[in-house]
Amino acid sequence: MTNRYVLSSSILSADFARLGEEIKTVEAAGVDWIHVDVMDGHFVPNITMGPFIVETCRRITQLPLDVHLMIEKPERYIEAFAKAGASGLTVHVETCPDIVRTLKQIKSLGCRAGAVLNPETPVGAIQPALKEAELILVMSVHPGYSGQSFMPESIARVSEVRKKLDALRSSAWLEVDGGIDIHTLPKMKEAGATAFVAATAIFKNPQGPAAGVKSLRDVIESESTTRASARSAGEQSS
Ligand code: DX5
Ligand code: ZN
Repeated sequence: MTNRYVLSSSILSADFARLGEEIKTVEAAGVDWIHVDVMDGHFVPNITMGPFIVETCRRITQLPLDVHLMIEKPERYIEAFAKAGASGLTVHVETCPDIVRTLKQIKSLGCRAGAVLNPETPVGAIQPALKEAELILVMSVHPGYSGQSFMPESIARVSEVRKKLDALRSSAWLEVDGGIDIHTLPKMKEAGATAFVAATAIFKNPQGPAAGVKSLRDVIESESTTRASARSAGEQSS
């Protein structure tokens, strides 16, 4: 495994009756991060997990916990998620009137600070976050549910963010989330993404989650011509 690219396994499609086993399986199969989708029923229509589940994941695995906050006023809960064991906290620009302040709050608690763009949000809205963020997440579905179809227009949005990060010589992760599978992943990688979230392609793989991880990992490793591969692996951290 190199640290130029990461595969982040979203537990949203896991079998929660066997959560520990599911996480252990994808960890053994070679995922880099565990992605936890937090939804509040306000910013997105669905309601999912809170700090309690993050704390549960923290007891199951040592892997970094990549926590995606799809909630209004995320600053109210950042400390609780950090204390629960989150490694990274990613907040939507749509929910943060002062994104720089929120990213600084995340960093002050020792977590990797990420900023997310929804599909309908102009890419320019990420500009104020670029210098402070250690991860930029470009959604490739409308947030709320796993199992949705990939939005092809998100490929150009990733390219745009990649240009902005490169212009700043930023080593931030460029993460993509939504409909990522063996067909869409190479396109996002080519556009400059370096971190790939997948739920359905892992946990709903007909051959099981380990096979899902392996097929995505093979795609990540087999594609050789990418912008990120030209960059120093040492520039980035988990
Ligand atoms: C959607 C979540 C995603 C979701 C991805 O709102 O942010 O992380 O779990 O699911 P798939 O990989 O099935 O699109
Ligand atoms: Zn997510």
